[in-house]
Parts: sequence; C-alpha cells; structure tokens
Amino acid sequence: MYTILLLGSGGREHAIASSILNSDKCEKLYVAPGNAGTHELAFNIKLDILDFKQVALFCEQYHVDWIVVGPEQPLVDGIYDYFQDSKVKVIGPSKAAAQLEGSKAYAKQFMQSMQIPTAKYKQFTADNLIEGIQYLSAHPLPIVLKADGLAAGKGVLILTDREEAITAFKEMLGGQFGEASSTVVVEQFLDGIEFSVFVATDGSTHCVLPEAKDYKRIGEGDTGLNTGGMGAVSPVPFYDKVLEQRVTEQVILPTIAGLKQHNLDYTGFVFIGLISVNGEPYVIEYNCRMGDPETEVVFPRITSDVVELFELMLEGRTSDYKLTTLDQTAVTIFSVSGGYPEKYEKGKQMVIPNLEGNTKYFHAGTKAVDSTVVTNGGRVICCTAFADTLSEAIAQAKAGAEQVQFEGKYYRKDIGQDLLTYTA
Ligand code: AMP
Ligand code: GLY
Repeated sequence: MYTILLLGSGGREHAIASSILNSDKCEKLYVAPGNAGTHELAFNIKLDILDFKQVALFCEQYHVDWIVVGPEQPLVDGIYDYFQDSKVKVIGPSKAAAQLEGSKAYAKQFMQSMQIPTAKYKQFTADNLIEGIQYLSAHPLPIVLKADGLAAGKGVLILTDREEAITAFKEMLGGQFGEASSTVVVEQFLDGIEFSVFVATDGSTHCVLPEAKDYKRIGEGDTGLNTGGMGAVSPVPFYDKVLEQRVTEQVILPTIAGLKQHNLDYTGFVFIGLISVNGEPYVIEYNCRMGDPETEVVFPRITSDVVELFELMLEGRTSDYKLTTLDQTAVTIFSVSGGYPEKYEKGKQMVIPNLEGNTKYFHAGTKAVDSTVVTNGGRVICCTAFADTLSEAIAQAKAGAEQVQFEGKYYRKDIGQDLLTYTA
C-alpha cells in the first residue's frame, strides 16, 4: 500500500487521481495543488510544486512513498534529480531526460542520432542571425519556427509569408519568448494528420498506452489561437495496424533505445506527438509527461491497475505490465472561460450536474469555495464520454459540455467530427 503525492491541477491530474483511486494499492492520495475535482476524491494540499524543498518537507511529514508528476515544469527543473538520494520515488524523467521536451534543439539531435523520422531542421541563435536569414530566404514555404525552450504552447509559428517569417525569426531571437527563444529551430513544414502515442517506461523496458488525437486550436475547424487543448479522442480511427507497426519500429523502439544510448534516467511517460504524412509517421515533438486533455481519454480507457504500472516502472519491469483497455471510444470536450486563451475572468459560479452512465467530468481550472465550485482558470472542466461508436461518444460528451454552467462558457462543437470519415 502506497502513499502517493500527485503534482498538478489540471484535468490530467483529476483523471490520473481517479485511476489511482481505482486501485487497492493506494493507501492515501494527496494532490498538490489540485482542483475542486481532486478535492472531492483525495486530499488537496497547498504546495508550491516548483519549490522542491517544500515538497520534500511535506513528503517527510506525511510519509509519502511516491511523487507522480503531472506537468512538465517540475520535471524540466529537476524534481527527479532532487529526490534521487531520498526514500521518496519520483515517477518522471531526470532533468537531463526532460530536455526532450525542454529543448526542441535537443529533441531534434536525439531523433537524428537514433534515425527517428522527423522534419528537416536547422537551429540558430543571435550569433548566427545573418546565416539564419539567408537560410530562411531559400527555405520552401510555409516555414515553421520554434522557440527552443518551454513557451507554454505558444512558441511555434507557422508562416506562409517569407518576409513575415524573417521578421518573426528576428523577434524570437530578440527575446520574444525570453530565454526560451534564445535558440530558434527552423523546420520543414509537414502536411498530414496529427496524433499522439504515450509510452510508460523505466528507461529500458516499456509499455505502450492507448493513442489519442487532440484539438489544439480555440476555434471550430482548427482555426484561431493555439490553446492547451480543447478536446481529445481515443482510440484514433486512422491509427491502423500498418501505421502502428511503423510507429513501433521507427519511433517507439528507437526512442527507448535512445534513452539508454544517451544515458538518460527515465521512469515516466513519453508523450510522442506525431504527424502521419501519407501513412508515414514523423515525430513533431516529445513531451516528458502525459498530455492534457489526452490523459482524460487515455487513462479512463485503462482498466488494469495503474498503481501496479507505477510499481513496475519503479522496479524496472514496465514491460511486465498487463495492460487492459476498454474497447470503447472515449471523447473529451473542454469547456473554457470566455476570452481564453487570451484574457479571461476567474471566480464564476459553476453548476455541475450529476452525469449518468458512461460520462464524467474532469475538473481543471476549478476551485471549491465552501460548498460551491467556481472557475479558476482558462480551461475549466472537460466532459469525457465513452460509447461503442465515435459518433455516440461525441454526442454524449457534447451533452455534458452543454449541461455544465458558468458565465462566459465556450466549447468546440466539432471535436472528433473529422475522424468520423475513418469509421464505418
Ligand atoms: P509543437 O509545440 O512542436 O507540438 O508544435 C505545435 C503545433 O505546431 C503542432 O501540434 C503542429 O500542429 C504544428 N507543427 C509543429 N511542427 C510542425 C511541422 N514541422 N510541420 C507542420 N506542423 C507543425
Ligand atoms: N495537449 C497537449 C499537451 O499536453 O501538451
């Protein structure tokens, strides 16, 4: 029996908390800082999750066995390394391994070293700005510019106009995203359809979890600004046996082999963002954690014990995990605050109905105030529905998004619609 501290406050953490609590192996679950959803299930703790000393003191006082890390920042900042000589075990990669997400240039070099298919690229800093401009002048359009470091999902620009691309390139190197854009990766544009795979690993052995597709743009038809993610679907109907085999052989196996080859300590999840170009997979990005909202469709589909998965990961026997999954389609739709991903207000009273059947809410930007729940972020709450068909799951998730109430609520009504053409 384990005492677990889960770090994070999103829908991802509410979904992970629900799965952890389905296990007999969890004695006590703390979530820091959590949200109104995790408050109902577990013990929310006010901690600054980037202050590792504070986290360590809590762990000591409350006899925490494991820390499960939801978001990337503590990982990129080295939470795994901080606890390396402690009794407390961390589910998450080392600081060096988290560079797969923390630095796009590092991720590209890693992929190149393992011959993992990815877009062609070159990286530049202010020191070779002129060379960069020359490179852009001859680059085919559109041009993809990526800030090297973490930029809260805003560091990628896709430009169809060369002059605009050169201006944006100069602005990025001039500090538009602070330190994150002091190196800029210029990448070949890939035209295809995106999806993501998730791999649990101990750095040597691994277990592949269900795949998912997310919807990053704020507007219907994938238009407008990028967000953290407006919805997700799992499984992905175009992820057929042929594509799955290609991803396994060309991407997953060399990624895990690369962790060893590059001496990267990794007990955690690898989130591989891919694009299929005429059936050929290319890696767009690595993340060193589970995705949000992808977790809200991936974890509820896992019917085997996830605490046992963590146990095996920590023992270096991830491949012994007997993964079982629900054979249904899961769709999640996020309801967000009016104005998101730009300026929005918090503190709106919420009405969250009780849902029946195969539909549930996962909270994200919510806060319990006395006996009520108020909004506390941009992405507020998502509704995940399961059904035998994609179209039924979409309809039920939409009904859940429709029923939740708060002032200024917005959700995309087209989540999963594009995938209906792939289903019978
Ligand atoms: P990233 O932060 O690297 O996942 O990029 C954000 C989004 O930009 C991705 O989800 C893709 O939609 C898009 N993107 C990134 N790189 C490329 C590329 N080389 N070609 C086409 N689209 C891309
Ligand atoms: N949904 C994308 C992410 O978690 O990065």
